[in-house]
Amino acid sequence: MTETTFKKKILCIGAGYVGGPTMTVIANKCPDYKVTVVDISEERIRRWNSDNLPIFEPGLEERVFKVRGKNLFFSTDVERGIEEADIIFVAVNTPTKTFGEGMGRAADLQFMEKTARKIREVAKSDKIVIEKSTIPVRAAETLEKILHAGEDGPHFEILSNPEFMAEGTGIGDMESPDRVLIGSMDTPSGQAARDELIKIYEHWVPRDRIITTNLWSSELSKLVANAFLAQRITSINSISAVCEMTEADIGQVADAVGRDSRVGPKFLKAGVGFGGSCFRKDILNLVYLCEHYGLNEIGQFWHYVVKLNDFQMDRFVKRILSAMFNTLVGKKIAIFGFAFKPDTGDTRDAPAIFICKQLLEERAHLSITDPHAIENAKIDMEDYNDVTFEEDPYKAAEGTHGIALLTEWKEYQELDFQRLYDSMEKPACLFDGRNHLDHDKLFDIGFNVYAVGKPDRDHFKK
Ligand code: UDX
Repeated sequence: MTETTFKKKILCIGAGYVGGPTMTVIANKCPDYKVTVVDISEERIRRWNSDNLPIFEPGLEERVFKVRGKNLFFSTDVERGIEEADIIFVAVNTPTKTFGEGMGRAADLQFMEKTARKIREVAKSDKIVIEKSTIPVRAAETLEKILHAGEDGPHFEILSNPEFMAEGTGIGDMESPDRVLIGSMDTPSGQAARDELIKIYEHWVPRDRIITTNLWSSELSKLVANAFLAQRITSINSISAVCEMTEADIGQVADAVGRDSRVGPKFLKAGVGFGGSCFRKDILNLVYLCEHYGLNEIGQFWHYVVKLNDFQMDRFVKRILSAMFNTLVGKKIAIFGFAFKPDTGDTRDAPAIFICKQLLEERAHLSITDPHAIENAKIDMEDYNDVTFEEDPYKAAEGTHGIALLTEWKEYQELDFQRLYDSMEKPACLFDGRNHLDHDKLFDIGFNVYAVGKPDRDHFKK
């Protein structure tokens, strides 16, 4: 394929966790399309063009290397990208507002708006503009108004095509998705734009998995999908607290409940709480939407999902405190896992951030280890002194009074816990925040074991 023989030219604005991997998959699956990913961050683009990609995602590297320079390009030249594109995906940041009206709930759309203004300023021909970032319901309306402000400009057709991939399994999620969702206006030009996007996905997704809806259903579905997933985790976590009091075992309860095919077994793993860039942000966004329409009770219902998630993290810290005789002053705790989940280096909204800060407030000293997230952990904890970072979990545990496992990395199951125990202060505590380890074995070695949703197991005489 050459510049002139590509069927269409796709541009993605935003080379982050969504833009980079989705465009890599599209470029791999659609050799007849030219795909360019642009970002204003020179450093990020430099890394996308290097051997050291800015994102760790299983399967990503080989796919980037296969098509980069052929039909996949990374660039900082946003204007040129806009000029030549037929189809523009917008995958910029939409964090929760940290200021002003709607602070702590509403999405901050400044990057989205700046992008729309840029497209209007530069574009000379008609384009399809696709919302890929998760944004508030009816944001397409705002995009439309900005893009069509002024007279006689080109025509922009707006589509919503939210991304459902989860980090760590992103490539697989995109290559064989449960569904692809496309929202469009119910007009002839809206439907034509929708069909253009369907053509792209049809390169590898069976047609019956491509759902088409109106714009607003598509935007809302993305928020609701994440709210439902987070709500499941909060539901099981809330029951874990009850288990700890009653000697019921959360693993057994989740299994018994999840075997009902109406409930299903997935996303019922109790832990220290959900993290990641989406769940909290999207639920708060939904809460804001409800409040905006005066649906306060519904807003409160969803807000409680986030509040209980905070409660779960807080409970975990309190349990550590109580097991360690209510003082952490001068004590050392090893943190095993800082990423918000395994198979990613991402620490955005990771429970580890909240938990570590609380432990430091109690004046504990922390040694943090993680196979892929130390770089990010250092940034998250840069304001704190009593923290060290260790690549090697054995070094991290040396001389500590306790280990808190916060991310269920597979490699932690393979550690020599006798060796860890021998190097620790006694009594040695193990707080399994993900129910990831063999608790009987740990207890037999001599650890006092505290696992989420299970009663305390210590060696103290009652
Ligand atoms: C999520 C959605 O799954 C995805 O569809 C959406 O596009 C983006 O948000 P992601 O944030 O990558 O994806 O992570 P996910 O695998 O959903 O996990 C989120 C959090 O929930 C993690 O902190 C994880 O540890 C936690 N979790 C998940 C549990 O505590 N228990 C579970 O049973 C499942």
